[in-house]
Amino acid sequence: MNDRPIALITGGARGIGLAIARSLQATHDLIIGARSAESAAVACAELKSAAPFVADLTDEAALIRASEELPDLDVLIHSAGIWDNGAVAETTRSQWREIFDANVFAVADLTARTLPGLRRTRGQIVLINSGSGLASNAGNSMYCASKFALRAFADALREEERPNGVRVSSVHPGKVDTEMQRLIVRRAGGEYDPSKYLTAESVARAVRSVVDATEDATLEVVSVRPTEH
Ligand SMILES: NC(=O)c1ccc[n+]([C@@H]2O[C@H](COP(=O)([O-])OP(=O)(O)OC[C@H]3O[C@@H](n4cnc5c(N)ncnc54)[C@H](OP(=O)(O)O)[C@@H]3O)[C@@H](O)[C@H]2O)c1
Repeated sequence: MNDRPIALITGGARGIGLAIARSLQATHDLIIGARSAESAAVACAELKSAAPFVADLTDEAALIRASEELPDLDVLIHSAGIWDNGAVAETTRSQWREIFDANVFAVADLTARTLPGLRRTRGQIVLINSGSGLASNAGNSMYCASKFALRAFADALREEERPNGVRVSSVHPGKVDTEMQRLIVRRAGGEYDPSKYLTAESVARAVRSVVDATEDATLEVVSVRPTEH
């Protein structure tokens, strides 16, 4: 690591998070979040100046242990997240707990633990939300509710941190060609056609604009939709 700004990207070893890491590597030292040391190591090996941040973020003790080692961050990008579906009538409390744990509680916890450093650097927090954080639909109550909660979290955090110079941005991609979307189509029994989706690189480009905003400006809410679908 040298004197470049430091960005931690949760979920940075694959999908949207890895695309963001690739796009930031020219200007930032990276800390790559993943659940396994192996997948973090694979991502770090292909990236310039990257270190692993290994923790299952739903495991509070693991999150605490890993975050104690962190330097002051200039950029914190929350990309880690999970999806699940099912009509409300068929969902269970443990499914609700699992999705909120990953998509909301872990985000709040890691944010709180890194905020002192982010205040010192007058840094940025970017939350990878979803179109599902702007509009809810049948069969998706768990995922949509978690992403609505994440938006509420972002809105409150933005106002709290405004006086501290910490900028908070919420990025809302539509459907993106990653493993998550393949799982969604598999579960629906459909044919997967990657051309119907945004690429992870297109989302990363939008995140790059958020990170590149001048210090007096915050791109507060960014919706990224496929042009044709
Ligand atoms: N794909 C889409 O269509 C789409 C659209 C809108 C928003 N999003 C959002 O974009 C974000 C990234 O999704 P993606 O499409 O890149 O999905 P993905 O390919 O399934 O990747 C999910 C990422 O989240 C990490 N993760 C999941 N649970 C975790 C946990 N308990 N602890 C630590 N890391 C965990 C995974 O880490 P491991 O590498 O350790 O498995 C992985 O890097 C998510 O927040 C998702 O909700 C996705």
